[in-house]
Amino acid sequence: MALRYDGQTVVVTGAGGGLGRTYALFFASRGANVVVNDLGASTNGEGASSKAADVVVDEIKKAGGKAVANYDSVENGERIIQTALDAFGAVHILINNAGILRDVSFKNMKDSDWDLIMLVHLKGAFKTTKAAWPVFRKQKFGRIINTASAAGLYGSFGQANYSAAKLGLVGFTETLAKEGEKYNILANVIAPIAASRMTQTIMTEDVLKALKPEKVVPLVAYLAHADTGETNGIYEVGAGYVAKLRWERAQGTLFKTDESFTPASILNRWAEIEDFKGAQYPSGPNDFLALLESAKNLPTNAQGSIPVDVKDKVVI
Ligand code: NAI
Repeated sequence: MALRYDGQTVVVTGAGGGLGRTYALFFASRGANVVVNDLGASTNGEGASSKAADVVVDEIKKAGGKAVANYDSVENGERIIQTALDAFGAVHILINNAGILRDVSFKNMKDSDWDLIMLVHLKGAFKTTKAAWPVFRKQKFGRIINTASAAGLYGSFGQANYSAAKLGLVGFTETLAKEGEKYNILANVIAPIAASRMTQTIMTEDVLKALKPEKVVPLVAYLAHADTGETNGIYEVGAGYVAKLRWERAQGTLFKTDESFTPASILNRWAEIEDFKGAQYPSGPNDFLALLESAKNLPTNAQGSIPVDVKDKVVI
């Protein structure tokens, strides 16, 4: 059975090329009304042109699908959602995909490199989502897919700005998932890898061939579907590989918080603090009040033996 989206309206930001274009073509081919948003900017966020979005809309229409173009920057996300409401009277699925790069070593990063990346990735996703949210709540249906990156999850040379914004989108998604669940608004975030103009200069021809953007589509389409119950997920996806990620917390160590709770007591029990045997997979912070209560019954923190290599540096 093919998953279909008949009668649903999908907004895809940055749909004039790369991943966004493939999402737009797919959803239209499965019956959805599609808003093809694209500012038509260069990879580093300069310039603007209506051509990028128009070409994709034409492609969809020629294939018998329904689509309209929107040329606003995601910074003005409310106008993109308005285009959906004006053209189709609704919005059901929002794919925050638009993105740019301002790669530069941290040493040479300027305020403008930082600000523009935050504006497009984080503020842009905020603006579109903020405008779609009341519609989603009212109709008790919404699907949000945000676009993070391995750079955000793990860090990446020359991408301090981009990494920060992309991990920001993970936190953003997790909170949307919590606040949206009772209204059937489900939010997930992907860290894709795909051949596009963004990656074409850093990968070889062979690798690019394996990384067709179409191979990211099935996961996004599944997460956007009415039948999915998935929310609050983080996924790495590309080249046919799909994997969920989750937070892992070491079991941790509880200290008695009396005067024996010193920097040296941390040092002495460091191995326990970072021991992931018996790890937990939390979706929220630990219950600190309960921990505090249990800590009362602990014996005072023994100093234990200090590792040889730091013995002469440690006092308390
Ligand atoms: P792309 O450069 O082919 O597509 C991005 C699109 O966003 C472009 O068409 C561009 O005109 C549009 N855009 C840029 N700024 C905009 C703005 N302010 N408002 C509206 N549209 C705007 O790049 P690609 O690879 O398709 O990237 C899509 C998303 O996936 C981005 O968020 C990117 O950061 C993310 N990503 C891509 C990876 C990859 O391997 N291609 C890896 C990790 C993340």
